[in-house]
Amino acid sequence: MSMYNEKVMSHFTNPHNAGTMENPDAVGSFGSPVCGDMMEISLKITDGVIEDAKFRTFGCGSAIASSSVATEMIKGKTLEEALALTNNDFVAELGGLPEAKVHCSVLSEQAIKRAIYQYAKEHDLELEGLKGFDPDAEFEHDH
Ligand code: FES
Repeated sequence: MSMYNEKVMSHFTNPHNAGTMENPDAVGSFGSPVCGDMMEISLKITDGVIEDAKFRTFGCGSAIASSSVATEMIKGKTLEEALALTNNDFVAELGGLPEAKVHCSVLSEQAIKRAIYQYAKEHDLELEGLKGFDPDAEFEHDH
């Protein structure tokens, strides 16, 4: 018996949106202080809507599966809608992750937020979802 459900396994073995893109409008990366794994998210943004999203990870299978669903979920969303999504939404979409692997989904959330943060800065956008977001903040976790 695997500790991972079928959906997690499927996104791990056949991840969606893996890779990079030409001329991304925003790129964000985040390294987990828990395990040292890294995530990079690239976004194509038009009129405030995320048209395309890709990820690269130097990380574990749970990070891959989380980013696969995360990039799927943010495509077609406005920047505010994407900012409203948290790692718990990605875990829920995956149908759950083992407790010890929940931190892996935080990589996706933080990399997305950092990409949007950078984009907002470059374009002088004030986004509600970025209020209080500190791109240099130490990431707090329960596990
Ligand atoms: Fe750290 Fe998965 S073990 S990202």
